[in-house]
Order: sequence, then structure tokens, then C-alpha cells
Amino acid sequence: MESRRLGPVVGLGTWDTFDREVPLAREVVGAALDAGVRLLDTSPMYRGAEASLAAALQGRRDEALVATKVWAQTVEEGRNQLEAQLRWYGHVDIEQIHNLAAWREQLAWLEVEREAGRVGRLGVTHYSSGAFTEVARALRTGRFETVQLPYNPAERECERELLPLAAELGLAVIVMRPLGKGSLLRRPPGPRELEPLTGFGVETWPQALLKWALSDPRVDAVIPATSRADRARSNALAGSPPWLGPEERRLVERLAAAS
Ligand SMILES: NC(=O)c1ccc[n+]([C@@H]2O[C@H](COP(=O)([O-])OP(=O)(O)OC[C@H]3O[C@@H](n4cnc5c(N)ncnc54)[C@H](OP(=O)(O)O)[C@@H]3O)[C@@H](O)[C@H]2O)c1
Repeated sequence: MESRRLGPVVGLGTWDTFDREVPLAREVVGAALDAGVRLLDTSPMYRGAEASLAAALQGRRDEALVATKVWAQTVEEGRNQLEAQLRWYGHVDIEQIHNLAAWREQLAWLEVEREAGRVGRLGVTHYSSGAFTEVARALRTGRFETVQLPYNPAERECERELLPLAAELGLAVIVMRPLGKGSLLRRPPGPRELEPLTGFGVETWPQALLKWALSDPRVDAVIPATSRADRARSNALAGSPPWLGPEERRLVERLAAAS
């Protein structure tokens, strides 16, 4: 099967960070793009984030891959969401069906949009492991090219079925919540504990977590969200080799359990 991979790359999420705050979005997105970040994830569910992202990309749209979502119970509402996105972004590089909402109905017309070239790849996302059986059912149709899932040392349910399935189908895996929504950052390990990872380009605890996910060869992208330009720059540094081996990944898991 033809490869649909994207990465490994560090992208940028937009949930709960710059909602309707355009100047902040410009600062954070600008810093991320300058640091080499290309994949930007958003959704109609994230209040004003899609519009803020569009404003932040003015003049730089060509540098980014925009991954957004259709989050609607009816086809009409889904189509309206896409029309707004096309006004904001010109085209949508990755269109994902958010939380599997009405996925069969949305997929049918989105495939026509993909054929017409108005959207690039089609994907599906879900935040809850309780929905993974349905995510697998959707992926097995062979009609999607990307899947977005939570994956971090405290949330590993996708290792059971979805990561092997994505690898088998050659799908691009985008990791949401790579920092556990910030919950893994409350008591970060210190420099001494991170010392065995410095040879892997890891200087901070968030970088260790991002590299932990990207070092799984089935993962293409992590999309940490941040409202700070300096953090966007520092997170981006986790997107380069060398990747962690099994021993280093186990160390990150032990440190995460204690954090
Ligand atoms: N499809 C879905 O159902 C779904 C669900 C959840 C998320 N997502 C996507 O995945 C993205 C990522 O998930 P998430 O935003 O929930 O969680 P996350 O990326 O795991 O964590 C974000 C939190 O980490 C903090 N942070 C980021 N970089 C940091 C750093 N270097 N140092 C210290 N703190 C740092 C941020 O705070 P500061 O702002 O203070 O830096 C923010 O509170 C979302 O933004 C969204 O695009 C999708």
C-alpha cells in the first residue's frame, strides 16, 4: 500500500489556547512556524480557534498543513463548517471527522470534496478509548488516511488495536494530548533524572514526553498545544532524531509515573 505517512513531526494543537485571541495566536503560530512546525490542528469545536489560526496564518498559509475537523450531527451543518474553513484557509489539508460524529454520513460527501481537491486527506479522531472499537471499524473501511488519538505514558490504550491497525493500513497517526493535557507536567523530573536523554537532544521534560510518542515508529505527529511562543519553540526541538530506544522510552514511562 502507498505510504500516507506525515512524519515524524511536532505540530501545534489549538484547543483552549488562543480561542479568539488573534495577537496571541499570531505570536505562538509565528514562533512555531519559525521553528519548523508545519502541522496545525484545530476544530470548529475549539470556539474561535479556527478563525484565530486563519488570522495567524495570513501571509504564511503556504508554510502550513492545516488539519481541521467536521464536528456536526447533520450533513448540512458539516458542509457549512467546510465552507467556513475554505474561506479561512483556501483549502483544508487534512479534514478529520471529530469524535466520529455522524461519520458515515459525513464521510460520503467528504469523499466527493476530496475527489474535487477542496480537501486533502480524510481522517477520524476520538479522545476516548471507549470509542476505539468504532474508530477501528471506521478505519477498516479503507476510506481514511489519518487517525488522531490520545497517546502518552499515562494513556496507552491505542497500543492494543489502533496503532497496529494504523501501521497495517499505512495510515498517518496524529497524537493528541501528548503532554496529558498538562497533567504530566505538574511535577517535572529535574536535569539529573533527564541526563540519560541529553544525547537524544532532550533538554526539558515536555520534550522527553513528545519524543517518547514520536519514537514509536507507528506515530507520525504530536500536536502539543501551548499559549506561549517560547514553549512552541522548545517543543518543536523534539521533532528531530535521534529517536529514543526501548530503554529510554521505559525511563520516560518511569519518570512519568512519578511525576
Ligand atoms: N479530537 C479530539 O477529540 C481532541 C481532544 C483533545 C485534543 N485534541 C487536539 O490535540 C491538541 C493537544 O492536546 P491538548 O491541548 O488537550 O493537551 P496537551 O498538548 O497534551 O497539553 C497542553 C497543555 O500543556 C501545556 N504545555 C505545552 N507545552 C508546554 C511546555 N513546553 N512547558 C510547559 N507546559 C506546556 C500547555 O499550557 P501553556 O498554554 O501554559 O503552555 C497546555 O496546558 C489539542 O490542542 C487539540 O488540537 C483533539
